[in-house]
Amino acid sequence: MSVLKIESYPSDVLRKVAEPVKEIDDDIRRLVQDMIETMYHDDGVGLAAPQVGVSKRIMVVSPEAEPGTEQVYINLEIIHHEGAELGYEGCLSLPGVAAEVKRAQKIIFKALDISGNEIQVEAEDFFARVVQHEADHLEGKLLIDRVSFTERTDIIKQLNKQIMIG
Ligand code: NI
Repeated sequence: MSVLKIESYPSDVLRKVAEPVKEIDDDIRRLVQDMIETMYHDDGVGLAAPQVGVSKRIMVVSPEAEPGTEQVYINLEIIHHEGAELGYEGCLSLPGVAAEVKRAQKIIFKALDISGNEIQVEAEDFFARVVQHEADHLEGKLLIDRVSFTERTDIIKQLNKQIMIG
């Protein structure tokens, strides 16, 4: 396993709609293992494949931030949204940014697990938030697209400053 480089704003791959996975082969399994290692290494609770430069519909999540509790969702599709909740989010691709984002309180989604089994999962609260955040990455969306215009402008200014420095 290896820790992968995280793509950060304004990388183009973060803005692409990711492709469905056609077959879960050795390359995909290796990528997933590396994504899990990268997520824990960088103290994330979720990571989507576009964040490591691979435009495919794969995410790993660990809302408890505890190695061994991670879940792998491939070709995930949210089929039900319910309620709304505000909460702070950060993103490994937007270093230093935290913003309050409105998400559904509860979702139901379908996906394939790493063995290719079709699963249906009900998620609430923080777990639902993490999955919705990662699902956005698969659509080329970032949390800065989910805040007010003023807040977005401030965040982008701050990010551009970071880019100029380092
Ligand atoms: Ni993110």
